[in-house]
Amino acid sequence: MKRLLSILLSIAIVAGTATAQTSKEEQEAFKFADKLIKKMTLREKLGQMQQFVPNSASVVTGPDGETRDIETYIREGCVGSFLNIKDPKELNRLQKIAVEESRLGIPLIFGFDIIHGCRIIFPENLAASCSWNIEAIERSAQIAAAESAALGIHWTFSPMCDISADPRWSRVSEGAGEDPYLGAKIAAAMIRGYQGDDLSSEKTIAACVKHFAAYGAPQAGRDYHTVDMSEVMFRDRYLPPYRAAVEAGAVTAMSSFNDFMGVPASGNKWLLYDLLRKELGFTGFVVSDYNAVHEMVAHGVAADGKEAAEKAMKAYLNMDMVDGDYISYGEALVKEGRISERLIDQLCREVLAVKYRLGLFDDPFKYGREGEKATYRPENLQFARKAAAESMVLLKNDGTLPLKDVQKIALIGPFADSPLDQTGAWHGWRQASRVVTTLAGMQERFGKENVLYAKGCESHKHIKGGIEEAVATAQKADVVLLTLGLGRNYSGEARSLTDISIPQPQKELLDALLKTGRKVVILLATGRPMTIGEEVEKANAVLLTWHSGTMGGPAIADIVSGDENPSGHLTLTFPRSVGQIPIHYNAKSTGRPQDPAKPTKSYLSNYKDSPNTPLFPFGYGLSYTQFEYSDLKVLTPVVEIGGEVEISVKVKNVGKYDGTDVAQLYVRDIVAETTRPLRELKGFERFSLKAGEERVLQFKIATSELAYCHIDLSFKEEAGDFKVWVGEDSNATLEGKFTIR
Ligand code: NOJ
Repeated sequence: MKRLLSILLSIAIVAGTATAQTSKEEQEAFKFADKLIKKMTLREKLGQMQQFVPNSASVVTGPDGETRDIETYIREGCVGSFLNIKDPKELNRLQKIAVEESRLGIPLIFGFDIIHGCRIIFPENLAASCSWNIEAIERSAQIAAAESAALGIHWTFSPMCDISADPRWSRVSEGAGEDPYLGAKIAAAMIRGYQGDDLSSEKTIAACVKHFAAYGAPQAGRDYHTVDMSEVMFRDRYLPPYRAAVEAGAVTAMSSFNDFMGVPASGNKWLLYDLLRKELGFTGFVVSDYNAVHEMVAHGVAADGKEAAEKAMKAYLNMDMVDGDYISYGEALVKEGRISERLIDQLCREVLAVKYRLGLFDDPFKYGREGEKATYRPENLQFARKAAAESMVLLKNDGTLPLKDVQKIALIGPFADSPLDQTGAWHGWRQASRVVTTLAGMQERFGKENVLYAKGCESHKHIKGGIEEAVATAQKADVVLLTLGLGRNYSGEARSLTDISIPQPQKELLDALLKTGRKVVILLATGRPMTIGEEVEKANAVLLTWHSGTMGGPAIADIVSGDENPSGHLTLTFPRSVGQIPIHYNAKSTGRPQDPAKPTKSYLSNYKDSPNTPLFPFGYGLSYTQFEYSDLKVLTPVVEIGGEVEISVKVKNVGKYDGTDVAQLYVRDIVAETTRPLRELKGFERFSLKAGEERVLQFKIATSELAYCHIDLSFKEEAGDFKVWVGEDSNATLEGKFTIR
């Protein structure tokens, strides 16, 4: 009976996919794949569904205990893909074995984590999102794709579309922050950037929507931890970026490590099949995260690797990353009738179709031909410099910045001359020697003799005599630029923290430098928000520089010199303390909202020991100039469902410098069926104005953009009254209202 049920389930799954919308190009790819599958043995099909890292233990030991080397595995057609090979020659060698020595000559697909650049490293993704510059984000993905493809990579595991409001979670550095609207725009832009219009071009690579799903909401901010939330919350806040990436044409997706509402994502048929394929219309292939199929044993939903493989296949997961459970147990599962060969055909077909669309069957060696000459193009380095400057956020300034009438600058701190920290986590094919550090960038801009350097301390350790040397250096200078924060080892996977304050040795360094009486500008190098209230209080200015990538040094020099005016705005709230986390601007009212006039009043939703407000809210960011927002006009005070709300606002640069700002539009649905956020971002525009210049900005919001998840899980807009605000951050005060009917 159990056997019959599982065969029926496999058939039902196959039948269901046929309904997905496919383009002409995809249909051709599927036709090709169908023909090829007819010639393949079951083992060869399973091979296409297996990805390995060369030399991992699972590659060499099969379920039969027999040891095979990787070449033999390729020759036998037991490998569909590799990840993490960082050597064009080796990529070529392995591809040659696959194409020339395996029975059917099916090319391998090579994946790599090109997360924020390949050779040229751009700012970490969270930083990039603070530019709110969607075209630039698309362009940086395009450059990363061209460099990767030129070196032989076909496929990146990016973009990370996980919304998160938890800076304890180290992977916030890889995402676009806390907001689903902005996150969706960025996700789609990155897919367009990587994949372009023609996936088979040697300048584009396959993208991967990850980590499906809700990986950014682990309990207590601890990586890989349980994710559990209402479906209403999931659909409203977490799903939009994944959806946008699928709609933009992502050809692969990755299942996440976490369990989701009780079922690990890699064995979660509701997620991978019902939602991703049937509802969102995804037609590419899904790869598990690293070992995530086998990890279902540790999750406690599979007794062994065989059962884990069975669950993952039934959940409609096409490719097993690294653990080898698919190739090890797939044949037995079919033989025992636990999995139908039809299901295997379907899962394999989608892998083959992506390889076909990449053009690998036409010419398996087309990627990698251009090689290094396609990397570090001067115009791309210039672009990376601009992108880094645009990602930086000025958090405080008493007028010390931009530096004027300054002869000598003391540049101090553990991150001032650290190429590795500057490039952050997931640094692609970075070469440290090509990174222009803050020290190098500052010396180039201000003259070597004018920039005096001392490290002062390590990130988490004192250096003997370090503080004394730093103080002596500061005393010779007019101003101190001090790099503080957390380096690359505190960013990216598996680096969650319970304490996100400035490490003690760095605090002591700051205090010693303040005692010199020099003005101190903090350059905050970090991949996540930090609890820096005290430091902000003490310093004259704070510039959030993030992990700014290859050209971060010159970009910092551009900003502190005033050659560039800071324009970044936060996309993840800075909390006052860890106790406030998760804290995000799009919170809900509660039945007992805080009274702002009496913030500690009893029996309202307050803390007794802390304000509710964050240190810096979502959207926040200063400039050297000032922008004035006025004349908010709702041009369409009453709109029918299906129509568009039109709003205009006047912006004026009333300061002394030319500058760029991000106008942000927020709405509140006053009465709805389910509780709605106090504010939701529904529009933004990055604009530049010369000093004294003014302009009217126009916003249009389709009523469908005001849709939300209802109790019956339908996603639709409804009639009612809305408030709208436009301004420079999520506390914007310029207000209007409109009605939908
Ligand atoms: C684990 C990470 O979670 C994922 O983001 C990455 O793409 C894979 N490993 C492959 O390196």
